[in-house]
Amino acid sequence: MSLSETLEYTPAIGRETAAEYARVRHVIPEVEWPVHAPYVAAINRLKKERNAVILAHNYMTPEIYHCVGDLVGDSLALAQMAQKTDADIIVLAGVHFMAETAKLLNPKKIVLIPDAGAGCTLDASITAVDVRALKQKYPGRPVVTYVNTSAAVKAESDICCTSSNAVKIVESLGVPEVIMTPDEYLAGYVASQTKVKVIPWKGHCMVHEAFSAAELREYRKMYSDIAIIAHPECAGDVLAEADFVGSTSAMINYVRTKKPKHVFMVTECSMSDNVAAEEPEVEFVRPCNLCPYMKMISLPKILRALETLEPRVEIPEDVAVRARRAVQRMLDAS
Ligand code: 13P
Ligand code: SF4
Repeated sequence: MSLSETLEYTPAIGRETAAEYARVRHVIPEVEWPVHAPYVAAINRLKKERNAVILAHNYMTPEIYHCVGDLVGDSLALAQMAQKTDADIIVLAGVHFMAETAKLLNPKKIVLIPDAGAGCTLDASITAVDVRALKQKYPGRPVVTYVNTSAAVKAESDICCTSSNAVKIVESLGVPEVIMTPDEYLAGYVASQTKVKVIPWKGHCMVHEAFSAAELREYRKMYSDIAIIAHPECAGDVLAEADFVGSTSAMINYVRTKKPKHVFMVTECSMSDNVAAEEPEVEFVRPCNLCPYMKMISLPKILRALETLEPRVEIPEDVAVRARRAVQRMLDAS
């Protein structure tokens, strides 16, 4: 019988997971904890036995982010952590492109993604063939590719970027014009912050494109002291209404340091839960836009991945060599 089939809540499990529950008690009701606790205990035990590390994105639900994630952060931080870890196994609690990036940086390690179907609408918006066509249409312009893409797309690119370093990466190239794929809105945001001309692609994030400027204005009317902080995957008119624009980790740092009375984090809503768990004094205004791909990752799937060492991320070597170059170039410039 596999470990996950024998799970049940007992007083002993309650004691074993008391420290983890203390971290999430503001956002997970006590009555709900017995559902999560047996998984939290089993995952944390198995992780040690297997010398595995769980890298969790800021959009994971609180029982993952606060209770089993060893290292948490935005896409750039996850890539940097993946490069530094000495664990034998990496479990990427996030979406597929993040697990691919971890594998690119750790070709010899086992990299697990608890649900191989955890995609991304930006990743799906562009193929390697599209990038080759862009290079033909705009010869001589370097291609800066957001990490929210497949390894095959990265392999066609000169350098990668994330939401936290996009402006810096574009300026680091020392050229007057770049191609930037695939997020049209991130490209627009970068163009607004630099003199470099940016040729965009038409990809969008389904979560961030759902926010509207009118909605943000309504919240400002309702709470005059509200801090509106937005992710650069939002449309330009939405960003224009925000008090601050930054990556998911930069948004979290804003709340931790400024501690606004009311805040609207214009991004995936599990992130507000994760910060609310740490900052009970801050009131989060949260219309809930969830990423269906991020939400495919659950405690039972993480446990299953650790038990079976599947699904693994594999990248053909000819693609990996070229994609790794673009990711490494970004890390060197960050
Ligand atoms: P961050 O790198 O800011 O965490 O963004 C990743 C992502 O998928 C946002 O939708
Ligand atoms: Fe992709 Fe948007 Fe989901 Fe992030 S939130 S993984 S960009 S679809």
